[in-house]
Amino acid sequence: MTAAASGTVYLTGAGPGDPNLLTVRAHRLIATANAVYHDDLVPRSILEICHPMAEVVSVGKRCGRKCVTQDEINRALIAAARAGKSVVRLKSGDPMLYGRASEELAALECEHIPCEVVPGVSALFAAAADLRVPLTDRLTASRLIVLTGHRAANKKITRLWEGTLPQDATIAIYMPGSNYRQLAESLLGAGLPGDMPCVIVSRAGTGEQQALPATVATLPAQTALPAPTVVLVGRGCERCFRENAAIPAMAAEELCVAVSAG
Ligand SMILES: C[S@@+](CC[C@H](N)C(=O)[O-])C[C@H]1O[C@@H](n2cnc3c(N)ncnc32)[C@H](O)[C@@H]1O
Repeated sequence: MTAAASGTVYLTGAGPGDPNLLTVRAHRLIATANAVYHDDLVPRSILEICHPMAEVVSVGKRCGRKCVTQDEINRALIAAARAGKSVVRLKSGDPMLYGRASEELAALECEHIPCEVVPGVSALFAAAADLRVPLTDRLTASRLIVLTGHRAANKKITRLWEGTLPQDATIAIYMPGSNYRQLAESLLGAGLPGDMPCVIVSRAGTGEQQALPATVATLPAQTALPAPTVVLVGRGCERCFRENAAIPAMAAEELCVAVSAG
């Protein structure tokens, strides 16, 4: 497996957080790059793989901390590659899913900087694996829909989904926030029944994983789990109830009534 090449930027998926879930390619690049620019969600256990002489820079943009703008990140990547460094741009999960990859790739391509994208295990796959929730099923889920609860600031639409969500699907919601009432109302408003099973998964694919099974209607009654979380919705989530607490049926009915009345 070749080492990171001088003057090249690698948009690399770090997976959900466990070093065992890195691809072999990602591991090799992280270990050999001269510079590694990483997001906040990439844990220390993965950064420890970096070469001891590598420049390791946090460019996380999470709320409440000093912000590195996307433009600053783009310029840093270009400058490092132009200086002849091999550069890994390390992102949690898969770099092509909610990872601002289009902006970074456009900036690099515009400057004719050689770049490569290295896939990673996205949070939804880690969550599905941890909980043994099949994302598709011959009888109940023929498709997978990936959504985000968080929209770019310039987007006017605030609804999770326009129109009616299909019921024969598994829906993975990234960046769901902790306002589960609003989330439930969006899902019910998009036509999902209150008894549709779902599960909130925190820190999937790490040793700190936690999961709260619910139904769409009982989501508001759930306590917020530590970030990052992803929510899976669909009949496949029924499996989570077999080993967990029973659904509070009254709460489900109550919320259905409240939403249809409102
Ligand atoms: C900016 S997006 C990046 C997604 C990432 N590219 C991926 O493919 O997983 C960050 C969101 O991904 C989800 N996420 C990332 N890692 C996670 C994990 N280990 N467990 C649960 N959700 C996670 C959360 O919804 C978090 O708010």
